[in-house]
Amino acid sequence: MPLTRRIFLGTGAGVLAQAQTVAPSDRISVGMIAVGSRSHELLEAIKKVDGTEIVGVCDAYSGRVQRAIERTDGRAKKYASYKDILADPSIDAVTIGTPDHWHRQMVIEALEAGKDVYCEKPLTFNIDEGLEIAVAAERAGKILQVGSQGISSDSTKMLRDWVQSGKLGQITMVRAAYNRNSPGGAWIYPIPSDASPETVDWEAFLGPAPEREFDLARFFRWRCYKEYSGGIATDLFVHLCTTIHYVTGAVMPSDVVAMGDLYRWRESRNVPDTLNAVLRYKEGFTVNLSSTFNSRADGGYGFQVLGTEGAAQLAGRTLTLYPDPAYDNNAWIVGAWPKKLEEAYYSTPEGRAELRPPKRTEEVYRDTGPAATVAHLADFFHAVGNRGANIEDAWDGHHAASCAHLINASAETGSMMHWDFERHRAVS
Ligand SMILES: NC(=O)c1ccc[n+]([C@@H]2O[C@H](COP(=O)([O-])OP(=O)(O)OC[C@H]3O[C@@H](n4cnc5c(N)ncnc54)[C@H](O)[C@@H]3O)[C@@H](O)[C@H]2O)c1
Repeated sequence: MPLTRRIFLGTGAGVLAQAQTVAPSDRISVGMIAVGSRSHELLEAIKKVDGTEIVGVCDAYSGRVQRAIERTDGRAKKYASYKDILADPSIDAVTIGTPDHWHRQMVIEALEAGKDVYCEKPLTFNIDEGLEIAVAAERAGKILQVGSQGISSDSTKMLRDWVQSGKLGQITMVRAAYNRNSPGGAWIYPIPSDASPETVDWEAFLGPAPEREFDLARFFRWRCYKEYSGGIATDLFVHLCTTIHYVTGAVMPSDVVAMGDLYRWRESRNVPDTLNAVLRYKEGFTVNLSSTFNSRADGGYGFQVLGTEGAAQLAGRTLTLYPDPAYDNNAWIVGAWPKKLEEAYYSTPEGRAELRPPKRTEEVYRDTGPAATVAHLADFFHAVGNRGANIEDAWDGHHAASCAHLINASAETGSMMHWDFERHRAVS
């Protein structure tokens, strides 16, 4: 879809056919809690969802507030803190784009203030928070959408169709990787030249995190520190786990084992720059997740679902099916038999089948649908408008984030971790 086109709420995400206009009085007014890098992308995406209006923003760094107000052509108002956004009864829904250690508190306060909530992934900073948030969302009767937007893309929906219809046969393995090889890829982001105690609200950033001295690296590169982030697992693997759960219908792995190491970016962090994890699902498949910030092996990103009838690969917006029907060529085995027996073999049904190799024509699906973030937000606002179901609720967010927390726990302790399906907690 061209970037200028808007998604209309009456149609639901990704379905643009019967667009319907929304009267200004019916607009969903949105407050943005934190307007950091990701939230500026959310802001631009919300502008493309008809029937919404961004009315307020807040952030712990003044430069980001200024830029966000510019992006709304001055229509959004600056609020001093997230509590002021929550206290404003004219605001219907909020987005939360703070670092991860703040999510639980802000989500719960927002639900209790009667707001519908779009919270960036990972939903939680630790496993216990997930159940608490899911219960709070149910109690409040509010919509909670978690922001792993990939599942709202047409290509992921197509992958889900392929998996669920049996087109790939029996799925036994999923492989996925995120690899990078640059400072920015390793979260060493540039720090704005005006950043100082005058422009940065350090106490607001810290919130529930341990007290420590003003530190611009921690403020702008918080993913590098376990006090605010779960590193690779919560930043990147959580997207992969959300997609894996969505396409397979599985809820959680039963067993998780991982290794994490810090090889290269030692000066800048206390979380690994290389992480490998294996997740076993009771549904009958295993997942291999890997990420390194020291090489862009395989072009950086890869997602493969391996089945007995074929493999699907998702790379960016291109989904490719590699058919792989069972086919044997035992020529090298029977070629070592007596000639007569070899000839006899090729007159049997198995032998004859080997003389007719199946066609393996690749199927390529190029996603030309809405950008995933726009579609994911449209799905959220559609649910807000209709009080219906949304694609990634608190339970989905809790489960995907819990995979990341199990991975980190395994990497830190050296033990295999298990999921207690009844009590929603980790068991080692
Ligand atoms: N869905 C995606 O693809 C995607 C991509 C990037 C980031 N994210 C998620 O979005 C969130 C934010 O990441 P980011 O890259 O935008 O980080 P960022 O550092 O650019 O933005 C975080 C913002 O939160 C602000 N903040 C911190 N505490 C605050 C408080 N108490 N009140 C108001 N503002 C506060 C900071 O000032 C900062 O501007 C994270 O949870 C991250 O995992 C998701």
